[in-house]
Amino acid sequence: MTDYSSLYAQKRTTADELAARVENGWLLGTDAAVSAAPAIFSALARRAAEGGLSGVRVQTLLDVYPFEFYEDSGLFGKLTGFSWFSGTGARKAVNGGYGDFLPAYYRDIPRHIRANYSYDAVCLSVSPMDKHGYFSLGATCSYAVAMLEKAKRVYLEVNRFQPRAVCGAQIHLSQVDALIEHDQELPVLAPPKLDETSVTIGNLIAERIPDGACIQLGIGAIPDATGMALKAKHDLGIHTEMFTDSMVELIECGAVNNSKKQIHRGQSVTTFAYGSKRIYDYIDDNPAIALMPVDYVNDPEVICKNDNMISINAALEVDLWGQVCAESVGTKHMSGSGGQIDYVRGACQSKGGKSFIAFTSTAKGGTISKIKPILTPGAVCTTSKNDVDYVVTEYGVAHLRGHSLGERAKRLIEIAHPDFRDELRFEAKKRGMLI
Ligand code: COA
Repeated sequence: MTDYSSLYAQKRTTADELAARVENGWLLGTDAAVSAAPAIFSALARRAAEGGLSGVRVQTLLDVYPFEFYEDSGLFGKLTGFSWFSGTGARKAVNGGYGDFLPAYYRDIPRHIRANYSYDAVCLSVSPMDKHGYFSLGATCSYAVAMLEKAKRVYLEVNRFQPRAVCGAQIHLSQVDALIEHDQELPVLAPPKLDETSVTIGNLIAERIPDGACIQLGIGAIPDATGMALKAKHDLGIHTEMFTDSMVELIECGAVNNSKKQIHRGQSVTTFAYGSKRIYDYIDDNPAIALMPVDYVNDPEVICKNDNMISINAALEVDLWGQVCAESVGTKHMSGSGGQIDYVRGACQSKGGKSFIAFTSTAKGGTISKIKPILTPGAVCTTSKNDVDYVVTEYGVAHLRGHSLGERAKRLIEIAHPDFRDELRFEAKKRGMLI
């Protein structure tokens, strides 16, 4: 068997030395969430802050590390972040005018990369090398494979806290230009808050999910909390964009066993995982979870292959036609489209499938209704009126798909917060929607 240790030692360097190799004008890529390389990006930010870089761009998706280029507007133009989705940092930078956003369906990103981009370097966090010279890409597998095809150089940050996904993407030492070792606990997402409202919403959805269903839970507090309401179910399966804490809970309590899936039976399928340490421990060396590229996992034609596919996603506001905004508060950017529309469509195309858009009826301490006569000017329509299926608040469930505008308005007003129902009724009547 080949001994890779001397080749590994030759390629090993430090974050500062790697940062020194980066040239002005380079485009750098990384994958979503915990697959980004925090030590390499921090070293680059130090170099940029000292005036040693200009025109370097970094593409991210769901930033979960506090990247300096999203925290410090002074780095704009030297080291600038572009996000395919947005995390807390990118949201701040995009709205602050010192970062930019790349609108896209998550599923299409590998296609955009193959068609439009060439990376001077791709920087990824990976788990330690195995005896055959492979590094696991760990808890994310979304578009790294496409990026690696378009990478002039590959820089790895080897982190012993990155799980080894045995059914996920791998990269071989021979494909790597340089690597650093940097052990750092992976960022964690606070567990879902199980307050009275989210428990009510979760129970309303759970009543409509049969045993044996296959689930997707979207990004956000309500979808993840809803997962917790499914603990009494049996034989559930998982096919999802993001693998969350509530999914591990459902697996460990026995509600999920993936035994009834039509594809990937016996395995949970996801494109990335983000949550507590419990998730990363679950992925490590576990053949029961497959991390696969997003152009496969989020393809509605793949999603719908599982019968009784149930998608549960969040929203910021919904208008009386049933148009769903999940990306902005008016013109203020909050997030990308992710896979919401693909899971709405995939679930609705699946035999027995259903899609739920779930949210608390109000925002900002009860002062704003999330069900609105019209979307706030500038709001992004994520899921169209033609695709929307069930809308859920703590006041009930409105089935909209295939129903008239008048029926939609009536059903949505019934699940709006009582304080806003008169106003919504007045606006709907004014527009001739309630006859
Ligand atoms: N008007 C004004 N502010 C609003 C609002 C509204 N209608 N709705 C929410 N907000 C505010 C909240 O008060 C909160 O403010 P804070 O950060 O100051 O507390 C903020 O917006 C976020 O709202 P919240 O309901 O906590 O959002 P979340 O973190 O649960 O995320 C989405 C919700 C919609 C942003 C998230 O699900 C998302 O990114 N979706 C898009 C893509 C998608 O669905 N992907 C998954 C598919 S696989």
